[in-house]
Amino acid sequence: ADMPIEELVPAACAKIQDFPKEGILFYDVTTLFADPVAFRRCVDELTDRFAGRFDIVAGVEARGFLMAAAMAYKAGTGVMTVRKAGKLPRDTFTKEYQLEYGSAAIEIHKEDIPAGTGVLIVDDLLATGGTLAAAVHLMHQAKLEVAGVGVFLELEGLGGREAIGSGLRVESLAVA
Ligand code: PRP
Repeated sequence: ADMPIEELVPAACAKIQDFPKEGILFYDVTTLFADPVAFRRCVDELTDRFAGRFDIVAGVEARGFLMAAAMAYKAGTGVMTVRKAGKLPRDTFTKEYQLEYGSAAIEIHKEDIPAGTGVLIVDDLLATGGTLAAAVHLMHQAKLEVAGVGVFLELEGLGGREAIGSGLRVESLAVA
């Protein structure tokens, strides 16, 4: 029950050997979200690490949405969604990023949030960092202040932190 958070996070994930390919140990965070104790501890801890430093929480589609809503509710802030391309109905800022095979793009609405607002960007997993680096880029395009980046789990050896850049605070609850 009092397992340190850096042990709780990987323990609460389902681990799938050789998915999506041979030699990869896949961390599936859906079991952590489904565990009421683990979910609450992770939300509380990640929110506390940025306490008082943000005005809004931005979640990255799709699992980041679940975190962002809970964290914003706890902190008493609003929430914004960083969406996969093609979902938002009004003018957007769009950023393409590289995946292992091919590319993807994420978007936010232009002008919904006042310039200078402090945004905490959250997602479940930091792997190569392509997704979160793109999210940071979108916030800068919108002239928002990035208060930091928070994830439940950081995968080691994939250069995720470096991709986001050294100028920003990046907090992960656990490293695997
Ligand atoms: C996963 C994860 C992060 C991203 C991390 O999302 O939720 O958003 O990959 O990888 P990166 O650091 O290498 O960019 P996915 O693209 O699978 O989208 P989903 O949440 O909609 O399933």
